[in-house]
Amino acid sequence: MCGIVGYVGKKPAQDILLSGLKRLEYRGYDSAGIATLDSEGEAKLARSVGKISELSKVLDEAPQDGNLGIGHTRWATHGGVTETNAHPHHVGRIYLVHNGIIENFKELREELKGYKFASDTDTEVLAALIDSNYKDGTSLKDAVAKSLKRVRGTYGIAVFSPSEPGAIIVARLGSPLIIGLGKDETLIASDASALLGYTREAIYLNDGELAVCTRDGADVFSLDLKHLSVKPETIEGDVEQIQKGGYDHFLLKEIMDQATTLHDTLSGRIKPDAGKMHLGGPNLTEEEMRNIHHVVIVGCGTAYYAGLLASYYMEQLVPDLTTEVVVASEYRYRSFHLPKDSVALIVSQSGETADTLACLREIKKRGVKTLGIVNVVGSTIAREVDGGTYVHVGPEISVASTKAFTAQVITMLMFAGMLAEYHGGDPKLLAEFTRELAILPEEIKKTLDTYRPEMEKLAKKYAKFDHALYLGRDTAYPIALEGALKLKEISYIHAEGYASGELKHGPIALVDDRFFEVFTILDNWLFDKACGGLHEVRARGGKTIVLTNSKADIEADDIVRIDSPIKLLTPLLLNTLQQLFAYYVAVDRGNDVDQPRNLAKSVTVE
Ligand code: F6R
Repeated sequence: MCGIVGYVGKKPAQDILLSGLKRLEYRGYDSAGIATLDSEGEAKLARSVGKISELSKVLDEAPQDGNLGIGHTRWATHGGVTETNAHPHHVGRIYLVHNGIIENFKELREELKGYKFASDTDTEVLAALIDSNYKDGTSLKDAVAKSLKRVRGTYGIAVFSPSEPGAIIVARLGSPLIIGLGKDETLIASDASALLGYTREAIYLNDGELAVCTRDGADVFSLDLKHLSVKPETIEGDVEQIQKGGYDHFLLKEIMDQATTLHDTLSGRIKPDAGKMHLGGPNLTEEEMRNIHHVVIVGCGTAYYAGLLASYYMEQLVPDLTTEVVVASEYRYRSFHLPKDSVALIVSQSGETADTLACLREIKKRGVKTLGIVNVVGSTIAREVDGGTYVHVGPEISVASTKAFTAQVITMLMFAGMLAEYHGGDPKLLAEFTRELAILPEEIKKTLDTYRPEMEKLAKKYAKFDHALYLGRDTAYPIALEGALKLKEISYIHAEGYASGELKHGPIALVDDRFFEVFTILDNWLFDKACGGLHEVRARGGKTIVLTNSKADIEADDIVRIDSPIKLLTPLLLNTLQQLFAYYVAVDRGNDVDQPRNLAKSVTVE
């Protein structure tokens, strides 16, 4: 969702800005633009609706010189998808790009009487506000700081003015901003992936901070203009991780890569011989571990479903634990109460999701310890939690979340494994989970390699349907929800996930020839009950696909049976089949798999 890049150095800014914007494409956007400043002090602006390739065409016609510039990918919030609403915005002596939302922009616009506004955006109002404060004798830095004090809402911004060539001012409140420090050059990005390959040294700006970036580095200030001393941090990852590596789409790469990435998630955290798990990040004393009797898990979308599956495992492993899994957008506004013996797990791939972040802050206000289950290193959630664990799956570029889901589940499982030791958990069960975790990456690889052709064939067969129901019981229930989400977001087939025990309470009325039903059936003590729903659907002529690890006789239109020594973690294996299925359906339907319509990778606004 919206991306910012900036460059000041010795190289041509246009190319670096364009390649930075391309790296941020995965976040989702509907228009893009850049503004540059040439050596004569002349600023140029180019914007276009649609993909970066459209912007490139505009720049091919009218290339922009200069070694300083800012760029933006916009995901429309205020105002439609038009070139005039795209960023950068130019007002008076100011060029500005902005992520976030200025809540009081209408009130500010009323005050800025002397300005004529070309767009419907809150950003143009902010540009005008800065311009109005940028009077003779005032520096751009001071004008920006003064303006931001008037703003209610969230922002990550980058601003320059031809009146002060050589400097870009950046600031953040609730929307990430990272400054990459290179040799004779400084880069700016809202997402570290745009900096990979340029530099490893970066300053992650905190909320309420502003920085003056020149090619010699960056000076950081508070909004009260106190100079702050800031230690640069190291950016993780490399350029290969943000390339497709021979696959047609990032989504397929990320699904297939899971075997490797899960190794990183598990590395140093499990001891299969001793039957133990250990995470360093939670940073809890033995006494604190003993005192936890309630875990609330917070997330959105796939992260929420990961939490739901993890909660089943937690309850199995930790006998005296109560778990609660909540959707962040709801929880943040509820009058919730948490017992003193609670800990909150804040689950987010991006670490920037606005609703999840808001919950984190609400929970902290109640004095409850928060632990992050986050992928993006240095992200806002990772920085604000009391402790936590990175899931370490590397950049997830495709909008639909796949490898992060699996890693989130197993990271929470490892947390449960640690808790189990302090809460009288069954050591045999703990050892069994640990053993399965140790072989999970290899088993996922086997599953993906073996069944990929079959899932592709199956996808072709079902791609023409308009509707799907995904059904599962017990630990297959969260997988049904996740399977339906994956299918709908990339194939645009209407899909719903249900607990299969709920069929008779409503959804079975839908079964007709426009629908197909996907049953995830586990070879466990609920097998017969799980098959019950399948029989009911088949009796009504429903088209059924079964994903299972059972060897028993099952009747369905299509059955995919996996064969693996994994038992408890079977839902994770079967989920990778659902991921492949959704991928191939989307490809068959000719969709933009990595950037599905209307979706953004990291939802930084409400
Ligand atoms: C689904 C998907 C979304 C995200 C959700 C939370 O494939 O990508 O549902 O899971 O927006 O995002 P994070 O994990 O970044 O907080």
